Amino acid sequence: MIPSVRGTRDIIPGEVERWQRLEDIAREVCRQYGYQEIRTPVLEREELFAKGTGESTDIVRKEMYTFTDKGGERVTMRPEATPSMVRAFVQHSLEQSMATAKLYSLGPMFRYERPQKGRYRQFHQLDVEAFGVATPSLDAEIVEMAVAFVRALGIRDAKLLINSVGCPECRPAFSRALLEALGDRIHELCADCQRRAQTNPLRIFDCKVPADQSTIDTLPHSEDYLCTDCREHFEAVTGMLQAYRLDYRVSHRLVRGLDYYTRTTFEILSQGIGAQSAVLGGGRYDNLVKELGGPDRAGIGFAAGLERLVLAMPAGEAETNSVDAFVVAVGDEARIPTHVLARDLRHAGLSVLIDYEARSLRSQMKRADRAHVAHVLIVGDDEIERNEVTVKNMATGEQSTVSMDAIAERLCSPGEPIDS
Ligand code: HAM
Repeated sequence: MIPSVRGTRDIIPGEVERWQRLEDIAREVCRQYGYQEIRTPVLEREELFAKGTGESTDIVRKEMYTFTDKGGERVTMRPEATPSMVRAFVQHSLEQSMATAKLYSLGPMFRYERPQKGRYRQFHQLDVEAFGVATPSLDAEIVEMAVAFVRALGIRDAKLLINSVGCPECRPAFSRALLEALGDRIHELCADCQRRAQTNPLRIFDCKVPADQSTIDTLPHSEDYLCTDCREHFEAVTGMLQAYRLDYRVSHRLVRGLDYYTRTTFEILSQGIGAQSAVLGGGRYDNLVKELGGPDRAGIGFAAGLERLVLAMPAGEAETNSVDAFVVAVGDEARIPTHVLARDLRHAGLSVLIDYEARSLRSQMKRADRAHVAHVLIVGDDEIERNEVTVKNMATGEQSTVSMDAIAERLCSPGEPIDS
């Protein structure tokens, strides 16, 4: 056997039903909030992420699946969707064709990370992005939407964290304040933090090294360095969240590991799923569209990790695909008529299984039982002669006969008991 690639997973029947439920709810919530689906390619030019996600991020520095294709072009399997969404928004001038440029996408992302529970090299995101609105009411709406989505999945232990990382006006002063506060202690921090101090001091708050935490805890908070516009924006966002009666906590360490954020950042954590507890993260990025060659338009969005949400979701009731009927042929004469019957029932909209290998009645019944079908339809010589089907209700065990011509209609009208 050739096993699957490390960090990738199959989503097999029995598990996939929960994914389908998750995706249905994701689409429904997006519809309610006015988002339209967009599908962008997995492959993009490397420079889209180098510029978009940012050269100083872990993603671009060490996690991208990038290669030179046979035409000599450097391409990357997308590690996140935001730069692709921005590219598509600009490339198709969506601002002109859409009333509000509110977009969502579902699909796989690729990051060369160390795999563990809740962290994979191929994983899936629901990505939600809105363009062209800079006012705080959209920040609050999108945060509320994220919470509503997680709640709609039945996840009850979610915690909402929010912060403001300021803008290019006020962030340099905050970065300087961080470096000043650190002073010589910078040399006591891990090698990653020393690099972060050079490239993007805010990122020091991302550090997970235990020995560094006591120093990091003494550092100034971004909230105290916001310019007037950023402070007012943040107060308006939190004010709206209070009006929505959302429970949230301001976390000054929530800087998020991507370069493009301005002002609002947020995350939703779920406790019961292990170390990788962030099920969703996002924020505002008011300069990214312009930086990627588009018009000067604000942007804001979030991405939810579907693997982690699936882990956090409570089990649903009937999470197996239901099969309406299993058609059983008794004897060679019945073989072709049962295949025609199965075809007719499927065309009538029913889900139907059939045996292909002329197995005994007993073994066909066993297979039907294992497939959790609602009804078994038995066709033998007698039934063919009388143009009938013997129907066994698998829940009650009762048997009855129904005319061949009426069977599709009878199975399609669940209100009428088949054994009456
Ligand atoms: P992110 O925080 O890198 O943000 O990822 C969002 C979510 O994707 C995480 O909270 C997590 O649930 C999931 N995730 C990330 N990496 C992995 C992994 N290796 N395995 C499993 N799940 C993972 C972004 O991707 C931004 N594009 C979000 C955004 C959209 N910001 C604005 N718009």
